[in-house]
Amino acid sequence: MSAVIIDGKALAAKIKDKVKEDVEALVRKQRIIPHLAVILIGSDPASQTYVRGKEKACEKVGIKSTVIKREIDITEAEILDLIDELNEDKTVHGILLQLPIPKHLDANKIISRIDPTKDVDGFTPTNVAKLTSGYPGLVPCTPLGIMKILDEYNIQIEGKRCVVIGRSQIVGKPMALLLLKANGTVTICHSKTKELEKVAKEADILVAATGKPKMVDINFVKKGAVLIDVGISKVDDKLLGDIDFESVKEVAGYITPVPGGVGPMTIACLLENTVSCYKSILGEKS
Ligand code: GUN
Repeated sequence: MSAVIIDGKALAAKIKDKVKEDVEALVRKQRIIPHLAVILIGSDPASQTYVRGKEKACEKVGIKSTVIKREIDITEAEILDLIDELNEDKTVHGILLQLPIPKHLDANKIISRIDPTKDVDGFTPTNVAKLTSGYPGLVPCTPLGIMKILDEYNIQIEGKRCVVIGRSQIVGKPMALLLLKANGTVTICHSKTKELEKVAKEADILVAATGKPKMVDINFVKKGAVLIDVGISKVDDKLLGDIDFESVKEVAGYITPVPGGVGPMTIACLLENTVSCYKSILGEKS
């Protein structure tokens, strides 16, 4: 039997419709437009594409977005000043620093400077601590989107073996915490993991966030497993995920395609998080 192909695009469209309705009602009441500030440093083509996608998505649901572009040689002091300004700016409700940033800048130090109430990415130490301790807070958009996919497709997590390949701050670590919170039995794998295929093959739910195109093939997959592909790499003008779709599609139970799986959900969750920030700043119940 072939795997069920998860339609992330359709679910994201549903979420975006709801965000649009919420934004309209909030703006009618508050007379203030939700506003996301996006900081883009340098001219990495992939980052530019992602930021354009975020801008367009904001526009469609009535969220104002401002992209603040800075040269690749910006100093740490200058970027910290910019963040201070955005933290103070009462017309800005969400701040997003597009990653990666150039190597001469200390990403942790800069992210830590973002006001946690405006931290739409959920990357500040305050929001990471909240997620770790199971306290409500802002949750990183990609793992949050994946949890919504699992929920939409009635995929049970409790008691299931969950394997996350990748330990990034953006995806791997928060993903593992969310699966753990949902009572999954969670293993995080990474580049130093021994017998990776064997570990992955135990998974009922396998999340691949390695950035290595087509790395996960049939040798990593248990029959009927739920496969979540976070990867998106451009190879010869084609977008490829971390999972070799053709190799696994007859074995897996469910699979997210690339494109059209996790990607659109990340953006939908960013819009939701922006509205959450707006609501908490303006004293609206969420
Ligand atoms: N770069 C790749 N993914 C992300 C993300 O979710 N947030 C930010 N800020 N940068 C990214």
